[in-house]
Amino acid sequence: MHSTKGTTAIRQPARNLHRLGDVVDELLDPLVKLEQRVHRASSHYDTGPWQAENFIRHLPGKRELSLVATVRGKPVGFVIASRRPEGAHIHRVATDPRHQGTGIASRLLALLLARTPGIVTLICDPRNQPALDLYARAGFRVTGTTPEGKLSLAAGTPLHR
Ligand SMILES: CC(C)(COP(=O)(O)OP(=O)(O)OC[C@H]1O[C@@H](n2cnc3c(N)ncnc32)[C@H](O)[C@@H]1OP(=O)(O)O)[C@@H](O)C(=O)NCCC(=O)NCCS
Repeated sequence: MHSTKGTTAIRQPARNLHRLGDVVDELLDPLVKLEQRVHRASSHYDTGPWQAENFIRHLPGKRELSLVATVRGKPVGFVIASRRPEGAHIHRVATDPRHQGTGIASRLLALLLARTPGIVTLICDPRNQPALDLYARAGFRVTGTTPEGKLSLAAGTPLHR
């Protein structure tokens, strides 16, 4: 008998996770197009989509910490992060609208958190309920509000100094 889990695995094409630094040269154009698709389909993502220069701009640890999910070699999701003294900061999380709700962002966040000692922070629009649900499930808690009215969130445990 086929289990529900087995059926799901058959229906969902295999995804691979890569470090941004390993794929950014090859996948830069598809990443920018993915970002544009996500931006068009989302109400509270950001004021404008990232351009190529945002993906390649150097930030400490960005190429190692950031992750890209691919299906059949095409990017379908990403988390972009950089190292901070207390741990890391997430700049961007997005999943292709056609692949949302299939666990891609959860997997990306879980791997980032597992690989990052210390506190991981991010900022989110308070109206972005799908993202807030995702972050709560991943273990983030609200720690404050920015002067612009966005929510600050954090996960992890402080580094011992
Ligand atoms: C938020 C976002 C990254 C979630 O990515 P995802 O790959 O669909 O997330 P997952 O499939 O891992 O889902 C995790 C949980 O998030 C919540 N969620 C995700 N998408 C949702 C949606 N469209 N509506 C409601 N809840 C949603 C659910 O609780 C979901 O759990 P489930 O398994 O019970 O459905 C995705 O919706 C997205 O790219 N949004 C536009 C960009 C954006 O807003 N980024 C965050 C900026 S702070």
